[in-house]
Amino acid sequence: MTTMSQVHQLHGRKVKFDFNHIPKHWIENDPVSTHMLNTAHMILPAGEFWFCRVFNKALPFVKDEQLKADVKGFIQQEAIHGRTHQHAQVYFDQHGLDVKPFIQRMHYLFEILLGENPVGIKMMKKVVGEKRWLIFRLGVIAAIEHYTGVAGQWSLDNTSLDKADPIMADLFRWHLAEEVEHRTVAYDLFKHMFESEFNFQISKNALMTFIFPIMAAVWIEGGKTILKQDKDAGKFRHMGTLRLIMQMEKISRKTDHIPTFSHLTLATIRWFSPKFHPVQEGNTQQALDYLARSPSALRAEQEATLKMS
Ligand SMILES: [Fe+2]
Ligand SMILES: [Fe+2]
Repeated sequence: MTTMSQVHQLHGRKVKFDFNHIPKHWIENDPVSTHMLNTAHMILPAGEFWFCRVFNKALPFVKDEQLKADVKGFIQQEAIHGRTHQHAQVYFDQHGLDVKPFIQRMHYLFEILLGENPVGIKMMKKVVGEKRWLIFRLGVIAAIEHYTGVAGQWSLDNTSLDKADPIMADLFRWHLAEEVEHRTVAYDLFKHMFESEFNFQISKNALMTFIFPIMAAVWIEGGKTILKQDKDAGKFRHMGTLRLIMQMEKISRKTDHIPTFSHLTLATIRWFSPKFHPVQEGNTQQALDYLARSPSALRAEQEATLKMS
């Protein structure tokens, strides 16, 4: 098993951002990429707090000390990610974008449908079995984390956000760099819950066949919710899903402001290989190099050192 502790100990960096003066189109002249990235502020607070709850439930099952330390570091990082995107929601109020109904739906998805009782029904806990439901949710997290790791490496490899608003750009780059840093943890934890490699492979592949389409649909729906309300989004305001996907592919190929759909599709195909492991999907040193120069991460580390001295 490859755990991040073999490289270094994961820890949460307590970053702070001032979201009070973010321009509406913080990626200039690109409302589509701006709002597709803004969708993170609507999905991730509910999603990443749910990661933390599920991982806390799994901790007693972890028999490997290194993996246990990685899981604890992962929980710290995801809790700070969720909280930070929650703070960023002030951006929507400042620009008159009402996204509360979508955020409520995300809370329903993660807290009820994927909560303690399978699909929110109490008696289903007995039908499915508590441990099986836990393993299923760990698999969902591992599959989602494949994309956050891939998006993270993409963000480290390109400079397209250099001209974007520096605060939002740093928020995404800090978050995505930590996603690369902890990219193996969810996968290793999910695998740790299986005794048979065969069962693990079958489960991981079966899960991905529906995670990718669901995740893409939810994300695009979120982007459309914001675009619809943005009076300055021009022709993109009321675009249908298929046309929007085509536009996103065109924009991302031209600007690299968001990863292309084809990049994500190739990443999905790699997941199905029996030799797949997320360690191959990113470069930890590159992530640490960004974290060593990220203004918010640097400030957080300096404050932590001051508190300790
Ligand atoms: Fe995260
Ligand atoms: Fe993550």
